[in-house]
Formats: sequence, C-alpha cells, structure tokens
Amino acid sequence: MSQAGEVISQDQRSGDRPDRNLALELVRVTEAAALAAAGWVGRGDKEAADQAAVDAMRLLLDTVPMDGLVVIGEGEKDEAPMLYNGEEIGDGSPPVADIAVDPLEGTTLTARGFPGALAVIALAERGTMFDPGPCVYMEKLASAPSLADCLDLNIPLAEVIARVAEKKGSEPNEVTVIVLDRPRHEEAVAEIRQAGARIRFITDGDVQAALMAVSEGTGVDLLWGIGGTPEGVLSAAAIKSLGGRFLGRLWPRDDGERKAAEDAGYDLSRVLETDDLVSGDDVFFAATGVTDGDLLDGVRYLDGRATTESLVMRSRSGTVRKVGATHDIRKLRAITGGRYG
Ligand code: FBP
Repeated sequence: MSQAGEVISQDQRSGDRPDRNLALELVRVTEAAALAAAGWVGRGDKEAADQAAVDAMRLLLDTVPMDGLVVIGEGEKDEAPMLYNGEEIGDGSPPVADIAVDPLEGTTLTARGFPGALAVIALAERGTMFDPGPCVYMEKLASAPSLADCLDLNIPLAEVIARVAEKKGSEPNEVTVIVLDRPRHEEAVAEIRQAGARIRFITDGDVQAALMAVSEGTGVDLLWGIGGTPEGVLSAAAIKSLGGRFLGRLWPRDDGERKAAEDAGYDLSRVLETDDLVSGDDVFFAATGVTDGDLLDGVRYLDGRATTESLVMRSRSGTVRKVGATHDIRKLRAITGGRYG
C-alpha cells in the first residue's frame, strides 16, 4: 500500500523499488586508480602518475557490470591508448551507459605532493552526457543551493558577489571565491578584489573546488574560473547528487577553436546548467582522494596496509556516502600482478 492507501501495481513496484547502486562498484575503480597514483606522490613525474592511474582504472573497469562508452576520457584514440573517447568498457551487460573519467584529476598536484588530487569517474544513461566537441575549456560558476539564485554568467562577477553578500546578510569581504590561479584570470581576479570579496587560489583541481562550492560549510561560497570541460561535466555529474548550482559556458582558446566549435553547431554564448551537462536522471559518481584534500583524505600507508577515502553518490536516490577502505598491499599485489598497490 502506498502512503495514500492505494494499492501499487506490480509495474509501479518494479519501477519504484531500489536496485543495484553501480557507484558502489565504481568506487573500486577510483580506489584502484588512487592507490596506483599514490605511489607517485611528490616524485615529480606527472605523466607516470597519470599512466599508473589510467592502467589501474582500466584493469578494474572490465569487472563492472555495464555496457559503457567513454564520452569524456583521456582524449582521442591515437593519443590515448586507454580510456580514449569512444572506447567501450565494462563487461557488456546492461545498463547501457555514458562514462566520464579522470583517472587523475590533479596530475601536477600529485607530482608535487600538493593537496586535492582525486581519481574520478561518473556514469549516466547513454546519450545524456554533454560532448564539448573541440572546446577544451569552459567558464564555470557554482554555489550551494542557498545561493543558487545569485548565479548569472551574463552579469559582472562583482554583481554576483554583491548578490551573494546580500543573501548571506553579510559584507562582500565575508564572501569567498575559489579560483584557479591562472594568468587568464587576471582581469576577473581584479574585479573580485575590487568587489571586496576574498579569494582562495588553487593551483589545480577545479572538480574538488566545484564540490566545495556546492557543499555548505566548506568556507567557500562560489567557484569561478575557466577550467577544463571534462572537469565541468564530471563536476555536474556529482552535483546531480550533491545539489547546488553549476553554470558553464564554452570558452574557446583561440579563433581556430572558436570556428571549429561554431562549425560543429555549438552556441558559444549558451549558458549550460547542470542538467545540460548531464541530463540523465540516474547518475553515479565516485571519487577517491590521492593526496589529502579539503573533502577527502589521500592514500595513507601503515603496517603493510593502505587506506583510501572516497565519495560515492547516486542522483536517483540522492545518497552521498563517504567510504573508507583498508587495503592489504601484499594481497592486492598478488591479485593484480603488482599493477597497483
Ligand atoms: P590535470 O589533472 O589534467 O593536470 O588537470 C588539472 C586541472 O587543474 C583541472 O582541475 C582544471 O579544470 C584544468 O586542469 C585547468 O586547465 P589548465 O591547467 O590548462 O589551466
């Protein structure tokens, strides 16, 4: 019986009842990538760290029951031997899904031992993830649900900050914007400072920054910046579960990229909402910390074991889990032939 008292038909029941949460399988994939990359922390070789994460992620992905297609991956097939855009992954059984991966979000963070590197994956129904085409970057603006109405990419940033301050009942100097530290942001940084807001600069890793901006109590009110489009789609996938608002607008790097995007039919003035970036209703997301960060601890080692901490989410239920795991390094090496751990 439903709450209203009417009998629920068999069909309704099968549509409504809980089913398998694939994010709980995907977290094994991000744990593997994080464990593999963790061996490279601070060793100054970002390519090796990334390759280790890619190899480990690829090894585990075929164990996941899905018919997955990489739509946001490591790049074109010729450049990327694994997890390239268009590669089919999973064991081939349903569901038929789009996959976005960033085996190591924060290659330089890892190589330099800086905080905030993650291994990330998202899965959604086939055909529901945005394809950024030739555009490598997008402008991003994000906040928690309480400030969602303040966001607008078509007004000056100073005005957004004033709206946020008003909504919080505070002065602009109590508003914190997290921004990638890049020369291309010089003008906007001056505008934020002129508006009287505080800035938290990050050297890399705007997926974690987006998750901080949409989560209450992180000390960050807004994310603003021009960052990677893959990272934008992955952030949107997480925000489907976390809530909050994310706006994106494609940002071509030069005239060639602008023309290629326009020729391919992209409207470069269009502001993309979370649902434009990931339109599916059943989106799964998993991320594991590689280095310690604001949201997740990185991989740590003690007495032949490694610990990982992960975020595991599903948009249909809105469940957000923090999953801690202890891995026996000797057993893991035996099982994987030393490919990670
Ligand atoms: P990598 O892990 O590929 O190095 O990307 C890290 C990152 O900082 C992303 O978080 C961000 O979206 C993008 O790079 C910004 O690009 P760029 O470093 O070219 O400004």
